[in-house]
Amino acid sequence: MGLCGTDAASWRLAAVMLVWVLSYSSASTSCRYASPWSDLAQLRAGNLTVSEWHAIIGAFANVTTDTYTNGSTSNVGGYRELTRLAPDFGLHAIVLQAETDPQRIIIAFRGTDLNESSPSGQVDNCADWLIWHPWLQPPSYCQNFNRSTYDYVTNALHLVAKVQAQYPSASLVTTGHSLGAGLAFLTAINHSTPEAPVPAVAFACPGILGYMRRQHWVPTSDSLACLLQVDDSQDPAVHLTQVNQTGVFLRYDTGHDLSCDVCFKNSTPSLSHLSPWCALCFDRHHIYRNYLNKIFNSTLPTFGVWNTTTNTAWSS
Ligand SMILES: *[C@@H]1O[C@H](CO)[C@@H](O)[C@H](O)[C@H]1NC(C)=O
Ligand SMILES: *[C@@H]1O[C@H](CO)[C@@H](O)[C@H](O)[C@H]1NC(C)=O
Ligand SMILES: *[C@@H]1O[C@H](CO)[C@@H](O)[C@H](O)[C@H]1NC(C)=O
Ligand SMILES: *[C@@H]1O[C@H](CO)[C@@H](O)[C@H](O)[C@H]1NC(C)=O
Ligand SMILES: *[C@@H]1O[C@H](CO)[C@@H](O)[C@H](O)[C@H]1NC(C)=O
Ligand SMILES: *[C@@H]1O[C@H](CO)[C@@H](O)[C@H](O)[C@H]1NC(C)=O
Ligand SMILES: *[C@@H]1O[C@H](CO)[C@@H](O)[C@H](O)[C@H]1NC(C)=O
Ligand SMILES: *[C@@H]1O[C@H](CO)[C@@H](O)[C@H](O)[C@H]1NC(C)=O
Ligand SMILES: *[C@@H]1O[C@H](CO)[C@@H](O)[C@H](O)[C@H]1NC(C)=O
Repeated sequence: MGLCGTDAASWRLAAVMLVWVLSYSSASTSCRYASPWSDLAQLRAGNLTVSEWHAIIGAFANVTTDTYTNGSTSNVGGYRELTRLAPDFGLHAIVLQAETDPQRIIIAFRGTDLNESSPSGQVDNCADWLIWHPWLQPPSYCQNFNRSTYDYVTNALHLVAKVQAQYPSASLVTTGHSLGAGLAFLTAINHSTPEAPVPAVAFACPGILGYMRRQHWVPTSDSLACLLQVDDSQDPAVHLTQVNQTGVFLRYDTGHDLSCDVCFKNSTPSLSHLSPWCALCFDRHHIYRNYLNKIFNSTLPTFGVWNTTTNTAWSS
């Protein structure tokens, strides 16, 4: 992509990029949480006890499980289900409301169904293609579905807009794992206003900055600081997309893993074709059950902020 072009389109793009870089680099790392969600600020303080951590993260972690299993949200303590999208194929999502505070609403998106022989897995893979690497050839089965079925960002934005219209005084927080985390981050950014940033609390999000640039999205000044993800230091979906990562993280440092060392050394940074080493690393560190295991069986994660120096390298 040439930044030196003199045609109108290039200049307009350069202008959008400049605004974007400015709004990005001036982003603070603290999020102004609306009062129903003031407990989320504790996640950044770094002094939680394990039981406080579980109390705050539990609802997000458990509703994310339910998006994968189409499980009963009665397992999510303190919340009731408002709506669910669970078609045979297409975007899956669950909307919850806190029993004691109707202003607290969580919208959870499902990640990729990895069964590529099912229509559900196929449509999810077409959605992944469209968000993460649309310049590559799509899987051939995508021609069996219309684009509006697998344009999950648009469908997720519609769901969030609908919930916002139905509960205008409520404060939304989005969540999800993997593709679902990407949708959580992107919808949070898109629905943020300077007065009311929409926070996300998600798990294992691939870098979203590539999508935002391609769509010429300009985030409001502090909306990026409200994107929080739990990640595993060896998760290839996070690690291989780090140039496009943003927001803050709570990280489980899982040390070295040979499969990941080889994967990270030999991979071009792309999730489209995983080598066998990367597939093994992915299975050990990206799959949601690993996150549940870390969260409910392990010590506390460590708070951190993505290095904005390294991931704003975008003319290369
Ligand atoms: C943790 O830190 C926050 C802000 O730094 C403070 O408000 C809170 O009281 C602390 N909590 C504990 C349990 O020390
Ligand atoms: C989430 O699930 C865990 C493990 O099943 C359970 O111990 C915890 O109470 C649940 N928390 C919430 C808030 O639902
Ligand atoms: C998911 O569960 C709901 C009821 O809770 C049901 O209506 C729907 O058909 C289920 N979807 C799938 C794909 O199993
Ligand atoms: C994958 O989907 C196919 C087609 O729906 C189904 O027959 C198969 O049992 C599924 N495999 C797994 C592991 O769930
Ligand atoms: C796209 O496909 C879905 C599911 O097959 C169908 O419900 C919908 O009407 C289609 N939309 C268009 C515009 O063809
Ligand atoms: C939100 O998404 C729409 C549709 O893609 C786009 O036109 C708009 O620029 C986005 N706004 C922000 C703030 O991301
Ligand atoms: C990062 O985003 C750029 C587009 O801005 C894209 O070309 C690149 O492939 C992305 N890289 C990764 C590793 O996601
Ligand atoms: C926690 O660890 C135990 C023993 O290794 C395992 O059986 C259990 O499934 C784990 N819990 C979660 C939530 O992963
Ligand atoms: C960010 O990365 C750059 C390049 O690797 C490094 O020079 C800089 O010290 C890092 N900044 C922080 C805050 O870690």
